[in-house]
Amino acid sequence: MLQIKKLELIQFRNYHQQKWEFKERIVCISGLNGVGKTNLLDAIYYLGFSKSYFSRTDAQNVQHGQIGMRLSGNYILNQAPFNITCILRETNRKELSVNDEIQKKMSDHVGKFPSVMIAPDDVELISGSGEGRRKMMDSILSQTDRAYLYHLMDYTKVLQQRNGLLKNAATTHIDHTLLEVFNTELIKSGEYIYQKRKLFLQIFIPSVIDLYTSIAGKSDELNLEYQTELNENSLEWLLNNSYQKDLILQRTTKGIHRDDINVQLNKYPFKTEASQGQRKSLLFALKLAEWEFLYKYIGFAPILLLDDVFEKLDEKRMFQLLERVCSEYYGQVFITDTHADRLKKQLRETGKSFQLIEL
Ligand SMILES: Nc1ncnc2c1ncn2[C@@H]1O[C@H](COP(=O)(O)OP(=O)(O)OP(=O)(O)O)[C@@H](O)[C@H]1O
Ligand SMILES: [Mg+2]
Repeated sequence: MLQIKKLELIQFRNYHQQKWEFKERIVCISGLNGVGKTNLLDAIYYLGFSKSYFSRTDAQNVQHGQIGMRLSGNYILNQAPFNITCILRETNRKELSVNDEIQKKMSDHVGKFPSVMIAPDDVELISGSGEGRRKMMDSILSQTDRAYLYHLMDYTKVLQQRNGLLKNAATTHIDHTLLEVFNTELIKSGEYIYQKRKLFLQIFIPSVIDLYTSIAGKSDELNLEYQTELNENSLEWLLNNSYQKDLILQRTTKGIHRDDINVQLNKYPFKTEASQGQRKSLLFALKLAEWEFLYKYIGFAPILLLDDVFEKLDEKRMFQLLERVCSEYYGQVFITDTHADRLKKQLRETGKSFQLIEL
């Protein structure tokens, strides 16, 4: 089991210097809008991934008017103590150390102290473009398969280079030798990623459907399907066949960067068909399925970070979900809510002991 016991933040977002001790498996964090509930959860996420769940750049996490930041967490993983410290130096250099040993590659750290965040803006995962769903697959697979992460990094880099070449082709003659080099690289990484996504979704999709049914009931017919042109043709064929189109559009139009997960509700597109409650149920199902996949793969429960998830849920649904995520199976759980009383009342009904931190 993985548990964070202590957290200290220095110059991280709204926290100048603050420490917390987490004494229970279930930790509730309450407070008014803007007090820093989400920031606290994000700090825990940050220590596991060496990046924020929400912001794209590290600089956004540094407290306004300050230079540099420091996050430090004390963990227990399968009875052994670990300290993870992440420092952003004045030079903007990031250093992550585990038990005082500086990690040479940030990517090697990812997946060792995992957490799964569920936040309100995640509905983008359902209503937004395929990018969010690809990111979800990539994040899960990168944590469980190092080679996937490296192939993904290669693919992204080469894709940019190939697109650059196609753009330049409008003004100069295209370098066919270089194009072939890029194609070969894309095919190698792209085919690997395609195979891994396919295998992953064979396990992930039934799990999402099961979880959705248990949250939303049996009357909704939910279907999910891997949407990719690589099911019909090899990436080599796709790249060669779309060469003229790519030249005109000045970008690579085929490849795993176009993949998606197609979601349907009662045979209609989920995006346009589902109600808010159904969207929320699917979001939970996707995230809990992610959590379950990671658990099975790594052999212990990732930390579950639930940010404001009970907003807009009726009491019955809130209680059902709380009962589920607070069971011993789920390991350590952090829950934020603006209403301390509502959270306390519902948690008492689950009969589990919990710690309440009022910010
Ligand atoms: N880099 C930063 N430096 C200082 N303060 C920051 C920084 N980034 C964000 N903040 C502050 O942090 C606060 C937001 O914190 P957070 O999002 O954690 O609040 P919250 O408790 O989750 O609120 P809500 O209930 O509305 O979700 C804002 O008031 C914002 O001004
Ligand atoms: Mg918040």
